[in-house]
Amino acid sequence: MIVHPQDGGMKRILTGIQPSGAFHIGNYFGAMKPLIAMQDRGQVFALIVDLHALTTVRDASALRDFTRRAAIDFLACGLDPERSVFFRQSEVPAHSQLLWILSVVTPMGLLERAHAFKDKVANGLSASAGLFTYPVLQAADILLYDADIVPVGKDQKQHLEIARDIAVKMNEAYGEVLKLPDAEITENVATIPGLDGRKMSKSYGNTIELFMDEKPLRKKIMGIVTDSTPMEAPKDPEGSTLVELYRLVASPIDVEQMKADFRAGGVGYGEFKQRLFEAIRDYFAPFRAYREELIRDPAKVDDILRKGAEQAREIAGAAYGRVEQAIGLR
Ligand code: ADP
Ligand code: TRP
Repeated sequence: MIVHPQDGGMKRILTGIQPSGAFHIGNYFGAMKPLIAMQDRGQVFALIVDLHALTTVRDASALRDFTRRAAIDFLACGLDPERSVFFRQSEVPAHSQLLWILSVVTPMGLLERAHAFKDKVANGLSASAGLFTYPVLQAADILLYDADIVPVGKDQKQHLEIARDIAVKMNEAYGEVLKLPDAEITENVATIPGLDGRKMSKSYGNTIELFMDEKPLRKKIMGIVTDSTPMEAPKDPEGSTLVELYRLVASPIDVEQMKADFRAGGVGYGEFKQRLFEAIRDYFAPFRAYREELIRDPAKVDDILRKGAEQAREIAGAAYGRVEQAIGLR
């Protein structure tokens, strides 16, 4: 058994999020919110995985901006650096170091089967070695902290399985060096649809970003694709992108009302979009003041990330030392 003497046996919950663009509400409901809620259940490790983002971001100043914005948005939404370990992956060298060790035991076939890699290449990204070994770096992120629970959206399930498989390979070769993580797929927010009804994703350009100003937000929502049912006619709420998104931000009573209005007919999609716009705006309103404060005080954000990285280096460094010992490097 691998125990964590430093945290008295509290469950470790870990997730990474790429600073590869502005966060959208799919990221928020699929990854950020569940993680923030879990601060009450165990010790949370929240990684801004900037090394992963390098597989898609080739502009240094964009990467810097996305990283800062990721930190600010996470903190504004309630990530508490007093309770959680919040840091940038690139500030903890053990991630890149373990990547190499793990890649030595990782079968090519395991990575060749990865849907995310195939999808990214099919969508026009060039098939770099980094893109290919992306899941191995992700495995390092998880395994360095002996994470018990890794909350992610459904699209990341296979990456989690790969991380487990890699840990099994290491343990088969060297004895019990690494702890097998559990995936926790967030129930009822499995896949948040985007403006066009496909999975909301930066790569599809169908996102609603967090903290948009009212005017552009409203414009985006008005652009959600709907069918051509006329205003008077009854509409089917099942599978409607508008209802799916509304469920995330409105009270259960308001959601029931919207569904009833769908079925009854007489209300057009424009009206439903207006309700959705107001609900999204109001849902995120309470986070805005602290976000503004953080934007005005970059030193505070730097300081939080620096402290997080110090804590992370200690934990990850110890785990990496254990691996070096087990495999004969030390
Ligand atoms: P994107 O697809 O926009 O590039 P990422 O792959 O960077 O988003 O995802 C970051 C996190 O947000 C992951 O944990 C992922 O599972 C979650 N996530 C992203 N999009 C969605 C979505 N549409 N529904 C649910 N979760 C999502
Ligand atoms: N691949 C994940 C994504 O695109 C991000 C990620 C990197 C991650 N390292 C991680 C998620 C470790 C969970 C645990 O969303």
